[in-house]
Amino acid sequence: MNNQWIISDNSLDIDSLLKNESIFNVSNGYIGIRGNFEEKYPKNFPTIRGSYINAFYEVEAIPYGEKAYAFPDTMQKIVNIGDAQNIDIIIDGEKFSLFQGTVNEFKRYLDMKHGYYKREIWWTSPKGKEMKINITRIASLSNLELFTIHYEVEKINFNGEVVIESSINGDVKNYTDENDPRLAASGANILNVNSITFENSVVQLTSQTKNSKEMVAITVKHHCNVDYDLTINKDGTSITGVYRLESGESVIEFTKYVVYTDSRRFKDVNSSGKEIVDNLSKKSFNELLKEQYDYLKEFWTTADIKIQGDENLQQGLRYNLFQLLQAVGKDSVSNITAKGLSGEGYEGHYFWDTEIYILPFFTLCQPKLARHLLEYRYKILDVARQRAKELGHKKGSAFSWRTITGEECSSYFPAGTAQYHINADIAYAYIQYYLVTEDMRFIKDFGAEVIFETARIWLEIGHFHHGLFKIDAVTGPDEYTAIVNNNYYTNVMAKYNLKWAVKIYDLLKNTDKETLHSLCKKINLEKEEIDLFHKAYINMYLPYDEDHKIDAQDDSFLSKELWDFKNTPKEKYPLLLNYHPLTIYRYQVLKQADTVLAHLLVEDESDFDTIKNSYDYYEKITTHDSSLSCAVYSIMASKIGYTHKAFNYFIETARLDLDDTHGNTKHGIHTANMGGTWMAIVYGFGGVRIKEDYVCLNPRLPEKWEELKFEFLYKGAIIQVDMRKNKTIIEVKTNYPIQLKIKDTIYKFSDNETVEV
Ligand code: BGC
Repeated sequence: MNNQWIISDNSLDIDSLLKNESIFNVSNGYIGIRGNFEEKYPKNFPTIRGSYINAFYEVEAIPYGEKAYAFPDTMQKIVNIGDAQNIDIIIDGEKFSLFQGTVNEFKRYLDMKHGYYKREIWWTSPKGKEMKINITRIASLSNLELFTIHYEVEKINFNGEVVIESSINGDVKNYTDENDPRLAASGANILNVNSITFENSVVQLTSQTKNSKEMVAITVKHHCNVDYDLTINKDGTSITGVYRLESGESVIEFTKYVVYTDSRRFKDVNSSGKEIVDNLSKKSFNELLKEQYDYLKEFWTTADIKIQGDENLQQGLRYNLFQLLQAVGKDSVSNITAKGLSGEGYEGHYFWDTEIYILPFFTLCQPKLARHLLEYRYKILDVARQRAKELGHKKGSAFSWRTITGEECSSYFPAGTAQYHINADIAYAYIQYYLVTEDMRFIKDFGAEVIFETARIWLEIGHFHHGLFKIDAVTGPDEYTAIVNNNYYTNVMAKYNLKWAVKIYDLLKNTDKETLHSLCKKINLEKEEIDLFHKAYINMYLPYDEDHKIDAQDDSFLSKELWDFKNTPKEKYPLLLNYHPLTIYRYQVLKQADTVLAHLLVEDESDFDTIKNSYDYYEKITTHDSSLSCAVYSIMASKIGYTHKAFNYFIETARLDLDDTHGNTKHGIHTANMGGTWMAIVYGFGGVRIKEDYVCLNPRLPEKWEELKFEFLYKGAIIQVDMRKNKTIIEVKTNYPIQLKIKDTIYKFSDNETVEV
């Protein structure tokens, strides 16, 4: 087996069970199932059994001790939707369990080329009956409602009865932990089971959330290669089919087709579920495997990155890209949650993580999927306009810091609502998409409106002071510093947002007056406002510190006392779990890249020395307590020429979940970091930057590697980069004129061509 495409863990070590449930999740952007065992764990074993639908949510009241104006009253959270994973095998009266009898062989692995997760077990029961079981799971990438479990059971030394018990359990809870702010503190019981039916070999369990009143149906059909007698047992919350198989066959194949339908996507979850399961269960498991492989083959054609010289990192990198594909919402109703669909950390919310860390990969490698993510923001634009009003603004949008359907779900405004930069981040992602695809239709239909509305918010919260445009009382990306004036990141991103609002306005004015006219009418946008955008960005104040020759994180940051790192023991990290926020806010200490991230996104605002000095300064005081940090430091270290640092930070990102370096992978994978891994390769080692008229490449191969190959799409062209020890070969496949700036030279391509540098 080629390890670079396989993630395996053959131990049954209790301490890693929870982490592996996240690692081995199978998801497709609509549904996500944790890698729980089908058979039940022994009592008291750690497990978080979980199945989720992206953007399927419950609403709960937020309990406040003291509540102020425009604090959100409610919040949304992803729902553990009911458990269809359960399958028990009973041989001659003995129930299979990995924790009884003898496990002669146990393998489990995720195959990222073929898109399945498999367990291979050779087991001897306590009474000496032997069998081999292969269990394969797929969350179908081609049929988003479908999750399949396939059993292959081989009787080794007996020919007696086999019974298969397969159930759906609606009595499930969400996971809570009141001591970790990154998890839900309360509200475990969310679902009521409404109905359980068994008709024409189809089992269906329908539940409803208590408050949001959303419905979900789990509809199941089974196939078996052996004749059986079926008994159905049900109670108020679960249903079990007991399949008593005829003896005789020595190899049994049993497939469970599970279809999920929810009321956010389907009018009638019951009839849709039945129709879909009837259609999809006509496909054999092998056909489903083939479909999965074909889907992935296409995905990997552009997405894959090849590293020669380090198997572990190659594996980590592929794992991260595979998880991004598994996690990404593919229907514009949903987005990509901070933990994918692998766990309940951050409650299934969408953050700026999407735009700044994840969209670069999708925009450059899977633009169709990128569109869905961007369209999702457009769909919640009305809610963002409404939120702006609630916050006291006359115009513009205020996208929520964390959300599912657009409403603000953050109850801690200093590190939530105050992060206004999310508006500029969203605009930035639209602009990058436009620069990469030149898709003007998309800008006319969605992008322009988002860019204008987000630009407006800066005029609402900023003001002119001695001729300079300043933005007060915001929080930047670094959540260890809150509510400050003139956060460099926010100001520079707002400047980009405003500048592009003006550019898009002018572009439409020159090319499509009609569209501009109707859009301006729709959102009441006047030329005077555009002139103000212009005045604000031209005069945007960007704090700079003369003493250190660095861009200052904000107006007051550099005058604070430095955090006492020397006397902070290891176990006090992450600081957020061990110190009151106010303690942290009083010091110069960063949770994650802030100004350094700004230097990546809008590098032309600062000269190289400022970028380097800033990196040197902020690196020393950054804890990387957020998983969003290391990738950015890796990229910027590459730019500055700190090759060892770039490499070490890259290692941190590539295997963060596989090696559980943050200790919380059990609550779900870290999707922003996974996007960051791709960026560390392409933006870091490849030096790629998207500029207005061209793409820059600045290859710097890490010393330890023999070769690095990646590919991306730019204005319809395919650009393949092959970095070797002494040269880089860039192959461009295009029939449309494009420009690449490789190191300092601009190359023009209008045909297929290869350049060697
Ligand atoms: C980070 C945020 C991020 C969130 C979700 C927090 O720890 O500080 O920047 O958006 O996690 O990933």
